[in-house]
Amino acid sequence: MKSFGQFLAAAAVVMFVLGAGPVTVLAKKQPGTVTLPAKKGNVTFHHDKHAKDRKIKCNTCHHKKVGTACKDCHKAKKEGDTPKIKNAFHKTCKGCHKKNKKGPTKCKDCHKK
Ligand code: HEC
Ligand code: HEC
Ligand code: HEC
Ligand code: HEC
Repeated sequence: MKSFGQFLAAAAVVMFVLGAGPVTVLAKKQPGTVTLPAKKGNVTFHHDKHAKDRKIKCNTCHHKKVGTACKDCHKAKKEGDTPKIKNAFHKTCKGCHKKNKKGPTKCKDCHKK
């Protein structure tokens, strides 16, 4: 039994190392499609279509640091100057769609249940 326990402990260490490694690398890769969770209905965001096909500049959305998730800084509630995540997304996403009369602006067209 003792050696089985040691085996499990060793396996956990191996899984931790193997699990943690690739995740760190993948975090830097541009996602294809991102699901942005919301109670109102999750929003499916095609990163590839926006960044590659539509050639929208990275810093149009990643206004502070390209490739960092918005939620790293924008939280559920406003913090100092940093607007809450809902307003950050609505302003960036809906803002462009409205301004250019292209892309969804109705709640249901982004939030799907
Ligand atoms: C139209 C807006 C938009 C454009 C343009 C855009 N991104 Fe993103 N990007 C996002 C959103 C939204 C996420 C998901 C962030 C989140 O989960 O909070 C994201 C996620 C990422 C991630 C993964 C971050 C993580 O921590 O998981 C990387 C890397 C990234 N983008 C790189 C780029 C690069 C490089 C470009 C330009 C070629 C680019 N993005 C253009 C909106 C955009
Ligand atoms: C490194 C931290 C950080 C990251 C990552 C970040 N933001 Fe912000 N954001 C801020 C801060 C701080 C402000 C407050 C105003 C300023 O300093 O520009 C802000 C302000 C904003 C505003 C309001 C700008 C205005 O003129 O009213 C929008 C919209 C916004 N962010 C959208 C986003 C989106 C969308 C993402 C992800 C693609 C994102 N932010 C990622 C820190 C961040
Ligand atoms: C700078 C402009 C711009 C920004 C910023 C932007 N979009 Fe878009 N979006 C577009 C355009 C252009 C289309 C294509 C509309 C068409 O083909 O009719 C589009 C289409 C879409 C669609 C329809 C499905 C698709 O991709 O074809 C969704 C959903 C969408 N956008 C969500 C978002 C979300 C969520 C964000 C913020 C993270 C965002 N958009 C930011 C310009 C933008
Ligand atoms: C262009 C796409 C788009 C449109 C249009 C849009 N939203 Fe959103 N909304 C988002 C995104 C993206 C988020 C951020 C999800 C996250 O935090 O990951 C969000 C977040 C929210 C949130 C807070 C998160 C939650 O759990 O519910 C609420 C509430 C919300 N939206 C309501 C609305 C309403 C009401 C409308 C119509 C008046 C609307 N949205 C239109 C994209 C959109």
